[in-house]
Amino acid sequence: MKILLLGGGAREHALAWKIAQSSKCEKLFIAPGNVGTAAIGENVDIEVNDFDEQKEFVVANHIDMVVVGPEAPLVKGVYDEFKNDPRTASVPVIGPSKQGAVLEGSKDFAKDFMKRHHIPTAAYATFDGTTVEEGIKFLETLKAPYVLKADGLCAGKGVLIVPTLEEAKKEFREMLGGMFGNASAKVVVEEFLSGIECSVFVLTDGKHYQILPEAKDYKRIGEHDTGLNTGGMGSVTPVPFATQEWMKKVEDRIIRPTVDGLAADGIDYKGFIFFGLINVDGEPMVIEYNCRMGDPETESVMLRLKSDIVDLFEGVAEGNLDTKTVEFDSRAAVCVMLVSGGYPGNYTKGYPISGIDSVEGSIVFHSGTAEKDGQVVTNGGRVIAVSSYGANKEEALQKSFTEAQKINFTGKYFRKDIGQDL
Ligand code: AMP
Ligand code: GLY
Repeated sequence: MKILLLGGGAREHALAWKIAQSSKCEKLFIAPGNVGTAAIGENVDIEVNDFDEQKEFVVANHIDMVVVGPEAPLVKGVYDEFKNDPRTASVPVIGPSKQGAVLEGSKDFAKDFMKRHHIPTAAYATFDGTTVEEGIKFLETLKAPYVLKADGLCAGKGVLIVPTLEEAKKEFREMLGGMFGNASAKVVVEEFLSGIECSVFVLTDGKHYQILPEAKDYKRIGEHDTGLNTGGMGSVTPVPFATQEWMKKVEDRIIRPTVDGLAADGIDYKGFIFFGLINVDGEPMVIEYNCRMGDPETESVMLRLKSDIVDLFEGVAEGNLDTKTVEFDSRAAVCVMLVSGGYPGNYTKGYPISGIDSVEGSIVFHSGTAEKDGQVVTNGGRVIAVSSYGANKEEALQKSFTEAQKINFTGKYFRKDIGQDL
């Protein structure tokens, strides 16, 4: 089978690594890919949102399947573009329809969906420019801290957790006033939930689902979860509190009602669902949905997925995912992200990276790198993910930390407390 994978980050490098292991994958193309994916498959110079070019490529190269990594093309309707074009209608796209991707693209839609299908989530209300005063009154009924969410996609920056009512009112007005442009034309105000978060992933064919290994990600730049949010500083799988009993609650109360709810609502959804969960006194609740795999969770989750991912994708495309099995590797897996000094604020790109080839005990996934005159250089905030297996998370982390010392570039920084809270 010839497969085209869309995306160019460490998540896509990890997906490519897993896809390329499948005996069913004859040839893998990645658009646009990165320095890491170039070593596994063939990079194609097409952007993730350039659907016309992608379709041309799929037709010209007899591609049998398209796998979508990031959310942007899904929210923009890549699935529908392929389906509605007679030249590509028979090529399965692994990822939801535009309507399905709204689960991630609109927080208000996701909250309304959960309410209608009785899926546990924080109490909330949504406001727009015509209901500002109602929003202020609603805030007054809540307890601190206050959670304000821009309805639309904001590259992970659209959620504010505000300690006082006074500040919450001010931020709420500013959000509706255009703090995040059109993305905050509507604002979801919700109850604050206290607990540890966990990311749960499933693949669904729209009717059946298979649960993949769960993971915990680390979002803040500083150790002990301090400082600004980032695109992700590391991840760990398995998550100790995600016991069989807890996962059964997740499946019964959250996963099955979500898949059934999508079907009942007539939403075409064939792809990954990412459940951002929080464990509130032993009870799982949904913080958010995403319509794709997580980053940096994929960089550890793929290590623990023993089954052939292309076989699972075929199950998604053919609607017989129930006949497939998902086997987990019993080892732990972790990912530690090496980032540029200054990130997520200002940082300099273009520093040479040395030592990648000397990494032995871990798997290196590229994120923000580029090749310049035959030398790999830094080209983003998050630069390289160092992923490892271990008999337990401590052993896996030790490996990643040891191997991370071998990779060097000016300003390199990584969190040394990944997984310490678990
Ligand atoms: P989201 O983009 O909805 O995942 O929100 C970003 C982050 O804000 C989450 O990963 C949580 O850490 C936090 N968060 C969001 N909603 C809540 C909530 N209702 N209670 C507590 N923390 C929240
Ligand atoms: N790790 C969180 C996300 O991918 O959105």
